Amino acid sequence: MLFLLRGRKLKFRGIANRFLDEEKKRRMRQKNPSKNVISLVNRIGPKESKASLTQHKPRTAPTRVIAITSGKGGVGKTNIVANLGYAFSNLGKSVFILDADLGLGNLDVLLGLAPKYNLSHVILGEKTLPEIVVEGPGKMKILPASSGVQELTHLTREQKIAILTALDELIDAADIFIIDTAAGISSNVMDFNVTAHEIVVVVSPEPTSITDAYALMKVLALKYFEKRCKVLVNLATTAQEGEDIFRQLNRVTDRFLNISIEYLGYVLFDEKVTKGVKHQRIISELYPDARASRCFADLAQRIANSPARHVPRGDTNFFWRHLVSNSLR
Ligand SMILES: Nc1ncnc2c1ncn2[C@@H]1O[C@H](COP(=O)(O)OP(=O)(O)OP(=O)(O)O)[C@@H](O)[C@H]1O
Ligand SMILES: [Mg+2]
Repeated sequence: MLFLLRGRKLKFRGIANRFLDEEKKRRMRQKNPSKNVISLVNRIGPKESKASLTQHKPRTAPTRVIAITSGKGGVGKTNIVANLGYAFSNLGKSVFILDADLGLGNLDVLLGLAPKYNLSHVILGEKTLPEIVVEGPGKMKILPASSGVQELTHLTREQKIAILTALDELIDAADIFIIDTAAGISSNVMDFNVTAHEIVVVVSPEPTSITDAYALMKVLALKYFEKRCKVLVNLATTAQEGEDIFRQLNRVTDRFLNISIEYLGYVLFDEKVTKGVKHQRIISELYPDARASRCFADLAQRIANSPARHVPRGDTNFFWRHLVSNSLR
């Protein structure tokens, strides 16, 4: 846990130790001391190679961590993540993207990248997180996931903690850190969602997508005590349709979940998105004036102008705070 003991990380030590004590006790109870979370954290955390990634212009605001998620699959999350990231970089923001679709990640394919290493190499202890970072359009930094590695969808608690802790170091290097999650309500997806400052639930006009978005927000609210979500309607035919879908969702979440959801906006259906996908280029780069590209630019501008959700850091860092509070529940 060396890097946690250094510099400003000293202030996180108390709470991290408390958590690790819990881990130790739990492991002793399970008589399985072989999976050592401390050595895992040390193994995959940023070491000397962190320096180049953290060399950015001084930032005035803390990093904003945004998870893009959905109940139903195929509603456009990965395209939204890539285009939104690109739009943020056009605004002069430094952007990091984590492909958290563990096991079926395809952000790298969408961006026409061919990374040699991905999260599976990190889990296997062959690479550290900073060593798998690749650069995408707009100088976005991408942490690619693997595809077809089923084991990654069943990470142990120790492995998740190790990844999230190491990510915490990288997060400081970005203005905006976007997480592209898998679809659904598995604990893998939820763990990434609850570690973000802002959760954006993507929904399409299909009724099944709307009911699945409701199911996702229900699990977030009731099981993870996460009561604030933003809704983004993708594949809308008009701006009015986006608003109507939000209103439908808002009515049921208000009535049955007692949570407040916020309308983030909409992205219009645009066949140029698919055209771009075929060329492994994002629409915002290939057709900056296309109607969907303008939606992405507007969204990025709106998010940048809106106040960041304040998450008190207290005496612990970002990921630890969530992990500790979840583990003690
Ligand atoms: N605004 C849009 N207009 C037209 N097509 C779109 C739009 N957004 C996404 N698509 C298309 O929808 C399909 C699914 O997109 P994408 O892979 O981004 O979804 P996803 O939610 O990440 O899927 P998964 O749940 O499998 O990760 C792609 O073929 C993409 O081209
Ligand atoms: Mg996806």
